[in-house]
Amino acid sequence: MHNAIAVLDSGVGGLTVVKEVLRQLPQEKVIYFGDTARTPYGPRSPEEVVLFTRQIVDYLTQFEPKMIVIACNTATAVALEDIRSRVEIPVVGVIAPGARAAIKHTRRGTVGVIGTEGTVKSRAYEYALKEISPQLEIVSLACPTFVPLVESGQFLSDHAKETVRITLEPIRRFPLDCLILGCTHYPFLTGAIREGMGPDVTLISSAEETAREISAILYHRGQLAKADRTPVHQFFCSGDPVMFKQIACAWLEKYMDASPVVWQVP
Ligand code: SIN
Repeated sequence: MHNAIAVLDSGVGGLTVVKEVLRQLPQEKVIYFGDTARTPYGPRSPEEVVLFTRQIVDYLTQFEPKMIVIACNTATAVALEDIRSRVEIPVVGVIAPGARAAIKHTRRGTVGVIGTEGTVKSRAYEYALKEISPQLEIVSLACPTFVPLVESGQFLSDHAKETVRITLEPIRRFPLDCLILGCTHYPFLTGAIREGMGPDVTLISSAEETAREISAILYHRGQLAKADRTPVHQFFCSGDPVMFKQIACAWLEKYMDASPVVWQVP
């Protein structure tokens, strides 16, 4: 019951899911792993992303988590089933929750998806959306420059705003009523994306719905933590711990006492 929820991502993007987990489930302990030395996953081959995800899951297993959350769309798209077949605890991805959230919000059935090259190429969002709602019109766009903007801590800069505006131009031509932020890094760029898309397009992040799914699974398994202690979260990264800590403190709006532990990439 008091075992942690393990959350993994290619870098700092999964902190958007952590923030929502901490908001909805404040009694839960979270162990986070950001593969900041090998980010971004988007341009990598599916085989490489599966290998990296397996390595991180093997590392996180030492903490005996009660659940694994793959808070990276690229890894969810190509490695979710593989990881589910390798561990005996529940494994949650972010694509099905993101698709469900978009279906709840769309009014005209015209949905845009932005993500990494890997996620867009996998068509995982299209499959997840059409499985629930086959009549939807879906337009997808890969935005390979967004993750580096976030990982380098430049997500609030003018350069980021301009890059986002130019990148989104091709998708702005479609009469979309909602846009799925199909990469957990993208909520860091919400302001710039909102400006780029205009006020009529609702931005959908999978974080909230993913946290709801985590909560439902733990509830049904009788594994929700009791609110009888204050959880101490742990953070790990494979790259620069100073940059990681700076971004994590800013995003989570919390001071982290300890520096994230750095894991040497195998
Ligand atoms: C990436 O590492 O390229 C982005 C992570 C994601 O797809 O959410």
